[in-house]
Amino acid sequence: EKGGYEHFMLKEMYEQPKAVRDTLMPRLDDENRILLDELSLTPEQLNHLKKIIIIACGTAWHAGLVGKAAIEKFVRIPVEVEIASEFRYRDPFVDERTLVIAVSQSGETADTLAALREAKMKGAHVMTVTNVVGSRISREAQDVFYTWAGPEIAVASTKAYITQVMALYLIGLKMAELRAQMPQEEITKIVQELKELPSKIQQILDHQEKIKELANKQIHQHHAFYIGRGLDDYTAREGSLKLKEISYVHSEAIAAGELKHGTIALLEKGTLVVAMATQEPLYDKMVSNMKEVKARGAYVIAVTKASLEKEMQQSADVVFSVPDTLDILSPVLSVVPLQLFSYYMAVARGADVDKPKNLAKSVTVE
Ligand code: F6R
Repeated sequence: EKGGYEHFMLKEMYEQPKAVRDTLMPRLDDENRILLDELSLTPEQLNHLKKIIIIACGTAWHAGLVGKAAIEKFVRIPVEVEIASEFRYRDPFVDERTLVIAVSQSGETADTLAALREAKMKGAHVMTVTNVVGSRISREAQDVFYTWAGPEIAVASTKAYITQVMALYLIGLKMAELRAQMPQEEITKIVQELKELPSKIQQILDHQEKIKELANKQIHQHHAFYIGRGLDDYTAREGSLKLKEISYVHSEAIAAGELKHGTIALLEKGTLVVAMATQEPLYDKMVSNMKEVKARGAYVIAVTKASLEKEMQQSADVVFSVPDTLDILSPVLSVVPLQLFSYYMAVARGADVDKPKNLAKSVTVE
């Protein structure tokens, strides 16, 4: 059932191009316009919205962070992202003018379900992005956007994450259209770029040998630090979580600008730092953060985009680049090398990749 792959996680990473295509294509017409029957709100209701709250746990929460950046950019409406297990305990500001989007691969996560119920009780319109048809969350939400990632067996989420991010792009773009926030041509341009992502993910998978070698040289590490700014900060958090949950290497993700406010004290000669730098406007700032960590002896692996690779070589020990795309869409690509890196670290360290200790695929207790 692993289709010749050594682990489900590896198989599922390889299924990402298809998962992205399956989530995207049925929602586009021949002119690349987004069809989204899943969103039942009328343009009037949408115009009346004051804010959006995304609720989720773990990896799905990281997808929510990317979704916030995208929706705020496309729709110009404030978006909050809340960890579901925190949401209910602070009497959140939610009313009929709030749209709540619960993001959950399994659709069974207890905290996410409870948060969705609370929001619904307070009068919000509740929507879910989920991967499991008929799951509890899908049954209780008013609108359901299914990610068509197919069954995800490995505990560590990969293809579901990427399709959650895709879902939030599509929801954001559709809302931008309905609220007339963006000209149609601009939306179509982004959609065209979305359609390129599956083959670009495939290109990264085809170059994974380099990441495997890199991981094999880092298996002695006890700690890792992931840094990035903006969208790269969110991807850094996802990469860091992936590393710790399957390889058991302690790892921390910090917004790069926050480093010198404390965490940099932990750096020593040879400490592993993964620096994410895919965002053109933030590139110089990232390079200066990388210089800071290198000056303390850190071993820096940089993830950037192809057009910046050459430049980046001066600032990192190793550079891995992903194909160029629009800055806002880069999280779909830049997460892939991080998934592969944590996978190969876990394999090399002899960990049970698909079933990490102490973890369950869906967390049904609060
Ligand atoms: C990490 C991971 C978890 C889940 C989290 C939420 O790889 O898979 O962090 O993302 O438990 O699960 P769902 O999305 O099923 O609500």
